[in-house]
Amino acid sequence: MVRRYLVAANWKMNMTVSQALPFAAQLATLTGGEAAEIAVAPPFVALSAVGQALHSSGVVLAAQNCHAASAGAYTGEVSVPMLADVGCRYIIVGHSERRQLLGETDSLVNEKAKAVLAAGLSPILCIGETLEEREQGKTLEIISWQLQAGLAGIPNEVRVVIAYEPIWAIGTGKTATAAQAQEVHAHIRGQLRKQWKEGAERVRILYGGSVKADNAEELMSQADIDGALVGGASLQFEAFAAIIEAAKKAAGRKK
Ligand code: PGA
Repeated sequence: MVRRYLVAANWKMNMTVSQALPFAAQLATLTGGEAAEIAVAPPFVALSAVGQALHSSGVVLAAQNCHAASAGAYTGEVSVPMLADVGCRYIIVGHSERRQLLGETDSLVNEKAKAVLAAGLSPILCIGETLEEREQGKTLEIISWQLQAGLAGIPNEVRVVIAYEPIWAIGTGKTATAAQAQEVHAHIRGQLRKQWKEGAERVRILYGGSVKADNAEELMSQADIDGALVGGASLQFEAFAAIIEAAKKAAGRKK
């Protein structure tokens, strides 16, 4: 089955609105065609301005996080309806930086994913093991658990995107080899099949963790890798544009 790739830029806590605007104007020139959808996740304060700069381009807006409640007394938080209102299509939930630095649990991540789906948006659910867990041979066990907990009570696959991001590969310059990544992606697909039967074939499973112009094509050519979640390299136009081209080539090969 041919899945349309998704290449999503995660800017993390980078770019002021003034820096983001000229960059977004450049990004608006990118096209993924039928092969790949392109999404950009700026910081909250830049969402509105970047959304306007991308309006009627081939690039869609994403958010890096959300709160699970739709409104209320949650000082400093941002709800899914607010993100939908500024034009977000995707919301990243459960990024490892939030799990590790801000104590987000699997059940909180699950609540967020459900809130995103309830509003008609797509969650990009991040899962991944630490270096210690990998060295102890626990990778697949950890992945199974995070997937099961993150997707608990979600009845079908429609709009769900998974991002496998080994924590030891994020921002470290160390990438999982294509074979290491494919092993985990195949495991994820297998588990999704148990939960959603043939619906699992439609789910896009992105790889994230030091994706760069020179490793993107090999990673995305793997059978169960359907795109990328890109941090550092998404902050440079040429590097991100090259990753989009790599996605198009990799997708073309799978036809
Ligand atoms: P990186 O980040 O590409 O800088 O490793 C990926 C991510 O955290 O989503």
